[in-house]
Amino acid sequence: MSVTVETATVESPASSISTFMVLLVSAVALFFAYWKISRRRFLQLAEKIPGPKGYPIIGNALDFLGSSSQVTDRMIQIGFQFTTIAKVWILHKLVVFIADPRDIELILGNSTHLEKSEEYRFFKPWLGDGLLISSGQKWKSHRKLIAPTFHLNVLKSFVDLFNANSRAVCDKMAKENGRTFDCHDYMSECTVEVLLETAMGVSKKTQNKSGFEYAMAVMKMCNILHLRHSKVWLRPDWLFNLTKYGKEQVDLLDVIHGLTKKVIKNKKEIISSGTKKYIEESVTQEEKAIASTPVKGLRDDLDEQDENDVGQKKRLAFLDLMIESAQNGVVLTDEEIKEEVGTIMFEGHDTTAAGSSFFLCLMGIHQKYQDMCVQELNQIFGDSDRPATFADTLEMKFLERCLLEALRMYPPVPVIARKLAEDLTLASTGVVIPQGTTIVVSTVKTHRLEEHWPNPDVYDPDNHLPEKAAERHYYSFVPFSAGPRSCVGRKYALLKLKIILSTILRNFKVHSDISEDEFKLQGDIILKRADGFMIRLEPRKKTVAA
Ligand code: HEM
Repeated sequence: MSVTVETATVESPASSISTFMVLLVSAVALFFAYWKISRRRFLQLAEKIPGPKGYPIIGNALDFLGSSSQVTDRMIQIGFQFTTIAKVWILHKLVVFIADPRDIELILGNSTHLEKSEEYRFFKPWLGDGLLISSGQKWKSHRKLIAPTFHLNVLKSFVDLFNANSRAVCDKMAKENGRTFDCHDYMSECTVEVLLETAMGVSKKTQNKSGFEYAMAVMKMCNILHLRHSKVWLRPDWLFNLTKYGKEQVDLLDVIHGLTKKVIKNKKEIISSGTKKYIEESVTQEEKAIASTPVKGLRDDLDEQDENDVGQKKRLAFLDLMIESAQNGVVLTDEEIKEEVGTIMFEGHDTTAAGSSFFLCLMGIHQKYQDMCVQELNQIFGDSDRPATFADTLEMKFLERCLLEALRMYPPVPVIARKLAEDLTLASTGVVIPQGTTIVVSTVKTHRLEEHWPNPDVYDPDNHLPEKAAERHYYSFVPFSAGPRSCVGRKYALLKLKIILSTILRNFKVHSDISEDEFKLQGDIILKRADGFMIRLEPRKKTVAA
């Protein structure tokens, strides 16, 4: 007799979990295999690009963990190892860093690769689709509209405001009374105020408290954006929105957009009352000739614009023009004006604050060059404490070289990222970079390549003597980027910086207690000193009137 025992077929919880795990792992493996097959060509091309070894799936993502200055140090090490080209995988994303000027020319000098990489999306809640981020027809038409608002004649009309703000920042810094302090805070506040007064036409009187709050909010927003680039867990929007930074961002954007709306509203009322502030032609032919002399490495479409100027007599400053264009009905919406105002405030502020702070630290370290700048300023101003004129700034040749050298060694925008619109064969090595790759122009590395800069780690203003610049590759010096998507505010920045920095040097002797080797750099979006831009000021005998 046989006995059959029926066994229950109910699975234990442990075995359902293991079945689920097997299915999950198989699904992931299948997906990974499919992903690899569908991207076979992409991966084959990527394989041929040199770069540090990574881990399966996560690639080199671990290299991007840690504080901003640690990540910067690691990137500099990778840069040393791989000189002019290095690939890294961040999860599934291929990022290729390039530094050879011949390759950079293929990216920046070409209208094919104008689209910005995905990382620029963190700016969206603030800058929307403004000039820095937008692409295609929108970018093209807005650039055409905005570029003339930085024409020489417009810039010349800002000289008095540049002087008044330079004087104000000197007065504020004098209160440090010989103590060592971080000059970046002062430079930052000063550049925001100058932008509000010049590009936006918001007078000090109208700024009141809201202007100061705006300046602070802009600075804090920049800090949050920096954090989102360096801390991977702050990258997904849903996670970021849950953090204290996400909540702070909402409040800061309220302040920023609040003032923007107020400024636009006031301006509209002024314009509709018929009071337009046209800027008259004031740059002489001689000044134009000197100011437009092409500095080889720094030429772009803005130079063409000044040279081909057909003598348009009535120009408007940035915000006036934006509003007038909107009122004419076709070109801009209110939302677009808001985005462009935000873009100019961001791009115009943090970059110049970092550039001027590096300059001051370098003057503090290289006393010889500081003395030479002061000697030049004495020749221009003699015993007078008068404020600088536009013509004076054209005479500040040595100071300009010192500034350009600061921008070479410590470019405020250390990398420029683009999304590759089609496969690209590099001119330097013939390596092919596949379409869709995030390509990063590593300005900070290019500016220190020995083939183009003898003694690249030595601060030497003579690197920018016209004869030396003429010999160098056009794309070996790109602090303001180059080509069709270069910095629209380059001339504005150089004029403003010359006035602010010459005023500081005429009033104070700058000291630094540490050498360049001790700088701790941090380069997430804007290159800065993680240890602070520490300087000391000693009053010179004369003071400069505003
Ligand atoms: C030392 C100061 C400055 C430096 C080093 C600098 C550098 C740069 C660089 C490298 C870019 C290209 C960024 C990219 O493609 O991702 C850029 C773009 C831009 N900059 Fe500047 N900049 C400076 C000052 C200014 C100022 C003062 C303004 C405005 C008042 C300004 C407005 C812009 C705008 C609107 C763009 C976007 C242009 C476009 O995509 O068509 N910048 N800048």
